[in-house]
Amino acid sequence: MLRGRKLNFYPIKTQDGTISLFNFEVNDVYHSKIGAYTEALHKYVIPSGILDFVNENKQVKILDICYGLGYNSKTAINEIIKVNPDFNIDITLLEIDPVVLAFSTVLGSECFDEVINSLFFHQINSQIDVKSIIQTYLKKSAQIMPQIREKIPKQYELIMLDELEAKLHNICYRSISDRNIKVKMRLNDARKAVLDLNAKFDFIFHDPFTPSKMPILWTVDFFKILYNLLEENGNLTTYSNAAPVRAGLIEAGFFIGQTSPIGKKTTGTIAFKKNESIKNHLSEKETGILNTKAGIPYRDKNLNSSSEKILLNREKEKEISKRISSGRFLKSLF
Ligand SMILES: C[S@@+](CC[C@H](N)C(=O)[O-])C[C@H]1O[C@@H](n2cnc3c(N)ncnc32)[C@H](O)[C@@H]1O
Repeated sequence: MLRGRKLNFYPIKTQDGTISLFNFEVNDVYHSKIGAYTEALHKYVIPSGILDFVNENKQVKILDICYGLGYNSKTAINEIIKVNPDFNIDITLLEIDPVVLAFSTVLGSECFDEVINSLFFHQINSQIDVKSIIQTYLKKSAQIMPQIREKIPKQYELIMLDELEAKLHNICYRSISDRNIKVKMRLNDARKAVLDLNAKFDFIFHDPFTPSKMPILWTVDFFKILYNLLEENGNLTTYSNAAPVRAGLIEAGFFIGQTSPIGKKTTGTIAFKKNESIKNHLSEKETGILNTKAGIPYRDKNLNSSSEKILLNREKEKEISKRISSGRFLKSLF
């Protein structure tokens, strides 16, 4: 699976001590610097209200878009089983990169119960050869370590190869059948994978790379599909508060609110099908920005455009738009 493929990421440490990846091609980290686990808990699991849902229901269906290292899904299960160990959980995960999936079985596992780690390991290992992918990756990394160091901004601490190797030996192989947790995995471009889903979900965790770098999963057209996949009382959570993302969600039919910042960092977004579900509304300033040029969303009518094309088309739409700029709007507030 790795043959002929360039290495495009390397494991790094985030501020809460948990491990993330730095992607050299997208020049982006897979999680907030503040911490991979912290982000999963505070940008997805807690704001989604999933723990209140568990108190009032018997079963939950979660769609995890861009599973990556799996922090969002695993943190959700971790928290749910603290509230109700017998709760029925049905998770569908979408991810395009088999190498990241392989690493998800070894990185971050210290944050989660052995049962959760082994559950995901067995599902992922049934579709890809986890051990051989990681071994090949480690061999390739060892050959180009100085180049890897150069490509990653200095503020990030790299995880050393011997530590990664040790983690590989600690994979949890224990098989478990005593839990009411079902995991389904789709290894594909999420734009295609969503078209084959025939269930509705109570919660959607939406966690692609930064919209301004990779807008393909932040378009109005993709959000419209997610709208149809969401239960009437469900919600979609995402770390982004970018104007084109929020405006795109609204154009797709959602009503949106904000999620609390972690520390002094920025807010995220939560999207519902019903206006009355919003607990924390956007401020007047944030709503106003959505009506400026900055709020022109990303579009991908046939769900197959490249990021470059989507960005270019948005620039063209901005040029001919009669909306005011966000700068002028912000000045008008004073
Ligand atoms: C920001 S990271 C997600 C982090 C993840 N949720 C976690 O908890 O570790 C973005 C992920 O999206 C995946 N990805 C990128 N393009 C994709 C696509 N078109 N379809 C599905 N997954 C994609 C990347 O491989 C990467 O793992």
